Amino acid sequence: MDDSPGALALRLEVVDDVYLDDEVRASAEALCYLTFAHWYDDEPDEAFTVDDWQHTCGGVRVLLHDGAELVAHAAIVPRAIDLGDDDSAHTYAAGYVEGVAVIPSRQHAGLGTIVLDVTNEALRAGFELGVLSTSLWSFYERLGWERWQGPSYVVRSGIRTRTADEDHGLLVLRCDATKHLELTAAITCQERVGDDW
Ligand SMILES: CC(C)(COP(=O)(O)OP(=O)(O)OC[C@H]1O[C@@H](n2cnc3c(N)ncnc32)[C@H](O)[C@@H]1OP(=O)(O)O)[C@@H](O)C(=O)NCCC(=O)NCCS
Repeated sequence: MDDSPGALALRLEVVDDVYLDDEVRASAEALCYLTFAHWYDDEPDEAFTVDDWQHTCGGVRVLLHDGAELVAHAAIVPRAIDLGDDDSAHTYAAGYVEGVAVIPSRQHAGLGTIVLDVTNEALRAGFELGVLSTSLWSFYERLGWERWQGPSYVVRSGIRTRTADEDHGLLVLRCDATKHLELTAAITCQERVGDDW
């Protein structure tokens, strides 16, 4: 290991949210708010909401620390995702990826890639499908994610409703159970508070 002055002391951990230390949870939340505010410099208050933070909770977190500082984060939360049309739809145990964030001062140095590689491993090990919503397709496509090509829906109060505005942003990661996935099928999630996708 390189222990020269200034060398990175990177430490990765994958933690079940239930066991997350309060201090680390606070750092993860602050990292998400800071990173997404920076991303939306023109509308910082709109960038990351309380609902967005809640969407990161309840699964596992991939955390990258440099010494005492949390520098990158991603969360995987379990969600049921239906693929296919009403009659032929199959429900998959999906890992939905939220809050992918690298501290602004450390972006474009490979840290996001490290976190996403581990996120991908956790998805393949524990889920039937990975799903996320983004406008940064290229970052994820390099790492095996594929853009969904079919129509998206949400089930709200039992009624399946089209979410056409979301179609372009949905990406999936194939896992063992979904190796032969048809990317043009319908994709459906269940409603939640805040953005459904
Ligand atoms: C997106 C993000 C997680 C990437 O992490 P990172 O550590 O900066 O990225 P890496 O250095 O691992 O990136 C590797 C490659 O991904 C692509 N990439 C990374 N950030 C990108 C961006 N903002 N726009 C387009 N491509 C990007 C590039 O191909 C990059 O290679 P390059 O640096 O040689 O050009 C990070 O920049 C970030 O937190 N951005 C703000 C929040 C955000 O956009 N989150 C994802 C939204 S869902």
